[in-house]
Amino acid sequence: MTIYSPTPKTVLKAAHKLRSGGVVSFPTETVYGLGCDTFNKSAVSIVYKLKSRPRNNPMITHILNTSWVNTLCTGWDNRCQNLAQHFWPGPLTLVLPKKDSVPTEACGGFNTIAIRCPSHDVAVQLLKLFDGPISAPSANKHGHISPTTAQHVEDEFGKQLMVLDGGPCEKGIESTVLSMVNTPTVLRPGSITPEEISKITGRVETTTTTTQTNSPGTTGRHYAPNTPTKLFNKDDVETHNNGAVVLVIESAPKNVKHVIHMPDNASDYAKKLYASLRYADAIGATQICIENPQDTQRWQAVLDRLHRCC
Ligand code: TXA
Ligand code: MG
Repeated sequence: MTIYSPTPKTVLKAAHKLRSGGVVSFPTETVYGLGCDTFNKSAVSIVYKLKSRPRNNPMITHILNTSWVNTLCTGWDNRCQNLAQHFWPGPLTLVLPKKDSVPTEACGGFNTIAIRCPSHDVAVQLLKLFDGPISAPSANKHGHISPTTAQHVEDEFGKQLMVLDGGPCEKGIESTVLSMVNTPTVLRPGSITPEEISKITGRVETTTTTTQTNSPGTTGRHYAPNTPTKLFNKDDVETHNNGAVVLVIESAPKNVKHVIHMPDNASDYAKKLYASLRYADAIGATQICIENPQDTQRWQAVLDRLHRCC
């Protein structure tokens, strides 16, 4: 069996698996992760291989609380402490200079490390029992859609992988990645916005997803279904082909294969997005057409994922 209901016994089994250099998928509040022991180079290597992920694309290290940061990074200042106080446990990842003792393999060869403290109870239990940092990218093949259920993970990797089933993820898109190396800079937008961050740190810079290269996982086509995908504006006179699955907020297309009604607020939309894209792939759509949401701050993380999956 691959998917395990999380009980003290199965979470302990997962922790033992990590301890012996294995790989386990576990839920977080954002998406499911593919976890391994940060300090075990061969376990790290298995994760890269399983995902077919380029070795220069660093992973996020998950920790239980701020008392663990000193074993991983330097430069943890008051701004970081305040951010952690406000947003951890939760979907904010901080990038800082890494300690020499952390294998560079776990950080894509970078001299920095991305750290976050997840809030999902199963992730917390696993971190407690494993009692060490867990490196975990999203549990999907490189470039594909992140998984938001245990079944999605099994669909990606088959029945060989141990998956702890924590139900559908609350947020549905990946964490905000914030570099704290110099001026706080958002490398990947997420549900925690630059405005919220700037209330704690002052000025926050943002990067454009197509050009910035200091976070390799945030360039190019990513988070993408197998089916060709395009965005359309609700006011355009659109002709969708009849094999299309159409994700709508307001528009009402006719003569298409299937219409999925998406929520009109950004956080509920985010929660439903990846499952909808996977569904469109699964029912054999010839095209996925997505109605453009409004271009406001609240929607930035969703728009980022939509632009990169199209
Ligand atoms: O919500 C999430 O962040 C999920 C859950 C499982 O925690 N994880 C996740 O991991 O999305 P992944 O590997 O799919 O994405 C990690 C992102 C990539 O865009 C990567 O480039 C960036 O974080 N990243 C990691 N370490 C970095 C570093 N040292 N410097 C810059 N960017 C880094
Ligand atoms: Mg990913």
